[in-house]
Amino acid sequence: MWLGIDIGTGGSRALLVDRAGRVVAAHTVAHEEMAQLQPLWAEQRPENWWEAAVAAIQGVLAQAGVAGSEIQGIGLSGQMHGLVILDDANQVIRPSLIWCDQRSQAQVDWVNQTVGKAKVLACIANPVLTGFTLPKLLWVRDNEPLLYERIRKMLLPKDYVRFRLTGEFATEVSDASGTALFDVVNRRWSFELADAVGVDRAFLPACYESSEITGRITPEVAARTGLSAGTPVVGGGGDQAASAVGNGIVAPGIVSCTLGTSGVVFAHMDQVQYDPAGRVHTFCHAVKGKWHVMGVTQGAGLSLQWFRNQLAPGTPYDDLMAEAATAPAGSQGLYWLPYLMGERTPHLDATARGGWIGLTNSHRRADLIRALIEGISYSQKDCLDIVEALGVQVASVRASGGGAKSPLWRQILADVFSKPVETLESQEGSALGAALLAMVGTGAYSDVPEVCGAVILENARVEAEPDAAAVYASGHRVYQALYPALKSALG
Ligand code: XUL
Repeated sequence: MWLGIDIGTGGSRALLVDRAGRVVAAHTVAHEEMAQLQPLWAEQRPENWWEAAVAAIQGVLAQAGVAGSEIQGIGLSGQMHGLVILDDANQVIRPSLIWCDQRSQAQVDWVNQTVGKAKVLACIANPVLTGFTLPKLLWVRDNEPLLYERIRKMLLPKDYVRFRLTGEFATEVSDASGTALFDVVNRRWSFELADAVGVDRAFLPACYESSEITGRITPEVAARTGLSAGTPVVGGGGDQAASAVGNGIVAPGIVSCTLGTSGVVFAHMDQVQYDPAGRVHTFCHAVKGKWHVMGVTQGAGLSLQWFRNQLAPGTPYDDLMAEAATAPAGSQGLYWLPYLMGERTPHLDATARGGWIGLTNSHRRADLIRALIEGISYSQKDCLDIVEALGVQVASVRASGGGAKSPLWRQILADVFSKPVETLESQEGSALGAALLAMVGTGAYSDVPEVCGAVILENARVEAEPDAAAVYASGHRVYQALYPALKSALG
């Protein structure tokens, strides 16, 4: 049996699969809510991820009645880009600035001025963005110099959990790609960029391909969790690359749309290519020697979570979806801009603002909710359009993540994309992908496409409905006009 552990934003999930890739058991433990000390700031405590991961491992073993000795390998996946900094006693120096933290625009500007945008692109195949790790590290340098002086290592969220599991400082190519310190084309750290911005090379952990073994479970962890000492832990992947493995996006042609807290359109690439405007990210894939391109909506599930917390406390998401289904396609001319934490694709604007536009007295709450789902889907369509413009052929889109559990949202996606939307038999994304990478790393399958071909099964498909697709084609044009109009007013 193999174990996948996903360190998400909302919680940590441990999942067991058998040799056929069937999910035997899964257990999730929620994280503390992210702390937002100022607007657009977002922090979580790495120690909380670790405690949640331990509880998730204990929970899944108990639930399945499986002994640690039956587990042949472990894979990790996790929220990307977060900054974990450790001192010389390997203690966490401050809470992590996580992926959606947008405080570091001044540091992004500084990198662009100091190094030059063209050199940055040549070093890492992407622009530096506030979402990425490097500007978060530089924010600590500029604002908390006494803390910065104590840094000995920097890790990504899942790699902090790896360190606690194995005692090794290690990462893998897909997550390292999102640090803005990684040479994505050559699959190694960009010491050139690290030197140019004055980041000590020694901060950077060892980097592996995603299915390589990076370390083994320590005896102390074995005693605490029920795992066996010596169990190998493979690299795993950033949540998006791992989720793509769990969804079989490991060859050209199929594109995925993962609706979690963020929303991500993801495509596999055999040859590395990047958007010169940097609106989509080009990162290493968790498939050895391959890459992927992805566009990111910052506030996907986050929009619904915000709505529920502020306007419908305690209402189950299923009830919100049922209510939305009573509103007509197009929500009677109401639009939602999902820019609650700025936006990445296509605007690359950390200070973009969200909101409903087009309210009238006849709008009901059902329209407000439906407009949320439509607005997030328009934003994902923005991502898909750029991916297609890079020459990626898209026959159908595979939906996953919490949002894809809703039949209404899947239909709206099909209509907005004007493409068939498939779902898979297993709705598990990243934790499953992490477990599949562990299967490859421990020799149960020879490579990632082979394991995906053997275990991933399509389950349902919805086709675009022409009338709704026409409503959404014109709706998308209006949606696209709103950001520039508001930007010029709000600044
Ligand atoms: C990807 C990204 C998010 C986070 C959180 O670039 O920022 O998907 O990984 O899930």
